[in-house]
Amino acid sequence: MSTTQKKELDVVCVGAAIVDIPLQPVSKNIFDCESYPLEQISMTIGGDAINEATIISRLGHKAGLMSMVGRDAVGQFILEHCQKNGINTDGMKVRDGIDTSINVGLVTSDGERTFVSNRNGSLWKETIDDIDLDLVGRGRILSYGSFFNNPRLDNAALVQIFRKAKEAGMTICADMIKPRLGETFDDMKDALGYVDYFFPNFDEAQLMTGEQDLDKVAEKILSYGVGHVVIKIGKQGVCIKGLDGTDMVVPAMKGITALDTIGAGDNFAAGFITGLLEGKSIKECGEYGNVTASLAIQSIGATTGVKNRAMWDAQLEAYKKQYASA
Ligand SMILES: Nc1ncnc2c1ncn2[C@@H]1O[C@H](COP(=O)(O)OP(=O)(O)OP(=O)(O)O)[C@@H](O)[C@H]1O
Ligand SMILES: [Mg+2]
Repeated sequence: MSTTQKKELDVVCVGAAIVDIPLQPVSKNIFDCESYPLEQISMTIGGDAINEATIISRLGHKAGLMSMVGRDAVGQFILEHCQKNGINTDGMKVRDGIDTSINVGLVTSDGERTFVSNRNGSLWKETIDDIDLDLVGRGRILSYGSFFNNPRLDNAALVQIFRKAKEAGMTICADMIKPRLGETFDDMKDALGYVDYFFPNFDEAQLMTGEQDLDKVAEKILSYGVGHVVIKIGKQGVCIKGLDGTDMVVPAMKGITALDTIGAGDNFAAGFITGLLEGKSIKECGEYGNVTASLAIQSIGATTGVKNRAMWDAQLEAYKKQYASA
């Protein structure tokens, strides 16, 4: 991040901002019951870009969100969440005639889950025309929530966004989800070439590369021109490999009981990006990611774990103590 130009924001988060409605616990024979009372049914904030923007903002940096919602109560709920969390919404598009995406998650008591989503919701409808390219370059880092999450943001669309970011001297980070429509990395090869830090989990990375072995998986991803691949390996932490020869495993926080891992990846990304903003080494960025994710998975909901910087600082101290003698 060598650019000296004064930036309005630290991070521009592009991607999904939706509402999740978790229903739990539900039993598999729910249809045998005429009525199914639960302790709680409520809207919670979800979507990779808004999750990241929320956590980055709570950690003390200026985040802007570029996403799309419909002109409805759900969209309003999302915009209010941004306001409460100090997230800049200049890049938010409110589109008439579409519904804001809602993800209903059915979770059994033993943790099995099924998501019911709207194929015509904002997440599926957003195209490059809904993104104001003039607002992309306002930060030091551009974070694209997840490759394959917005099906219409394809290779060509992402290249347009990433090119703008690079022209503005930004570092580009991106996560991914498993493709829903059978897309491959080759379909995204130009866009991948712009990514400086790419955050798949091991499972996704294996699936997409067709390789099993960690070294081979990483090598294949780096062959697309990705600067660093940051492969999340659950409770083991993260493996980071780079075109510059970086090759390390940064271990996860020990002694964590995972209550809800939804959004673990988004929190990891928010922590890692905070490290980049604060000029930390790549190893420290990995630690920041692990520490942030460790807080997230101990409470239900993607943005409920990390409440403020002080709490996060304490967790980082605890993490450092765990590995002090290593
Ligand atoms: N049991 C655990 N103990 C400590 N940390 C954990 C544990 N499980 C996950 N983590 C942390 O969460 C990070 C992300 O986990 P994971 O590998 O599940 O990512 P992910 O699959 O992208 O998450 P998501 O389900 O949100 O997409 C890990 O890199 C690690 O830092
Ligand atoms: Mg993930």
